[in-house]
Amino acid sequence: MKKLRVGVFGIKRGATFAQLFDINPHTQLTAICDFDKLAVKQFLKGRGDISVYSDYEEFLQHEMDIVVLCNYCTEHAPAAIKALEAGKHVLSEVIACKTLAEGVELCRAVEKSGKVYMYAENYCYFSYILEMKRLYNEGVIGEYLYGECEYVHDCRPIWHILTSSKEHWRNWLPPTYYCTHSLGPIITITHTRPVKVTGFIVPNTLSKEVGRVADDWGIFICQMDNNAITKVIAWSMGPRDSIWYRLHGTKGAMENYRLSETDTLDVYTIEATPDLDYKEEKRSYKPEFVKYKEEARRYGHGGSDFFIVWEFVDSIIRGEKPPIDVYMAMDMTLPGILAYRSALSGNACLEVPDFRKEEVRQRYENDRWSPDPNDRSLPGQPLPSILGEINIPDEIYEKIERKRRKMMIEYEKAIEIGGEEEN
Ligand SMILES: NC(=O)c1ccc[n+]([C@@H]2O[C@H](COP(=O)([O-])OP(=O)(O)OC[C@H]3O[C@@H](n4cnc5c(N)ncnc54)[C@H](O)[C@@H]3O)[C@@H](O)[C@H]2O)c1
Repeated sequence: MKKLRVGVFGIKRGATFAQLFDINPHTQLTAICDFDKLAVKQFLKGRGDISVYSDYEEFLQHEMDIVVLCNYCTEHAPAAIKALEAGKHVLSEVIACKTLAEGVELCRAVEKSGKVYMYAENYCYFSYILEMKRLYNEGVIGEYLYGECEYVHDCRPIWHILTSSKEHWRNWLPPTYYCTHSLGPIITITHTRPVKVTGFIVPNTLSKEVGRVADDWGIFICQMDNNAITKVIAWSMGPRDSIWYRLHGTKGAMENYRLSETDTLDVYTIEATPDLDYKEEKRSYKPEFVKYKEEARRYGHGGSDFFIVWEFVDSIIRGEKPPIDVYMAMDMTLPGILAYRSALSGNACLEVPDFRKEEVRQRYENDRWSPDPNDRSLPGQPLPSILGEINIPDEIYEKIERKRRKMMIEYEKAIEIGGEEEN
């Protein structure tokens, strides 16, 4: 069978995907697109037969079957729509869209194209998340009642690596927006979707230290379509990183370890006899991937990146719906947008629309509410922080820029040394 040709847009995070499409037997990397010359140079080290573009429109003209979107976090939906219109299958990094209107447009574009769109929420593929999904499907903890999930990542020490300018999305994105690493797995494990959301913000105290004008913590509570409640900590900046999921059901509960050995799972079950004697069972273990264990573990994010690519390619080959389709991408992404809106309106409880339904989509097709500084010309736009305008002295950005330049000189040197060694 002819291999599917792959193009990767954005070659920082995209470098991991490029590698994974390279090792997949059904695909081959043919093109990349990035306007960051150093990132391209670094990526191309030791590679030859790949076309390189710096302009997305030109890149889309390239003969390829798949476009992988690893461009800026808040620019995925317009790029996905263009790729679908150009007849490509799309794998999109997080988040799926920046506004509700973009979400509507994306769903319609996927339906019209007949192509596969998959949302690359890799956290749904951690070994312990796949195990929780298996246990849930087997009914081990019964029906989902309450859950908590969190993605706390204090990125201050690596801010010069994660941002490329004062305007970079990480400097202004409200924390609730980057919510799918936490909420995503709850949705894939329980097959529920959020129907209502109430958002809360811990205002900017630490983030401004590195030049961020959005807030530190984004927290929201969702009511799911089976009446369960989920507490979500979206990407939040504070000391002590944590990636943690806890689910309570009618027959038991399960959670991964929170502070260390986080891929270890605790499972608890309780059962009543007819005489109301209760039998409890507890076990802790480290689940492993059922298939491709060796291969997956060689790649990023505990092997989860490997499965995203594998499942996406499988869906194309089999002509099947991808495991995280555009509607599920909306269920994961929209609560984060709405949670910020809720926090700004005194924690109002808001409906999370179901974009599977066209009549629902019509109500949101003009909703371009956005904290992106580039969207400020539209009336009624929010600021990125609940505190209002945050003024950061120029010297902060100069400090980050100095660290960035130092790092880039080191990268350049490393590339040159690597090049000499190869010669
Ligand atoms: N799932 C995960 O675990 C994970 C981890 C890291 C990043 N991400 C996601 O990956 C995406 C990229 O993040 P990143 O960390 O690589 O940083 P980034 O957002 O700074 O990188 C984006 C890259 O795309 C390039 N780019 C952006 N717009 C472009 C354009 N119009 N034309 C040409 N090139 C363009 C930039 O030069 C840069 O190299 C984001 O959406 C982020 O949320 C996901």
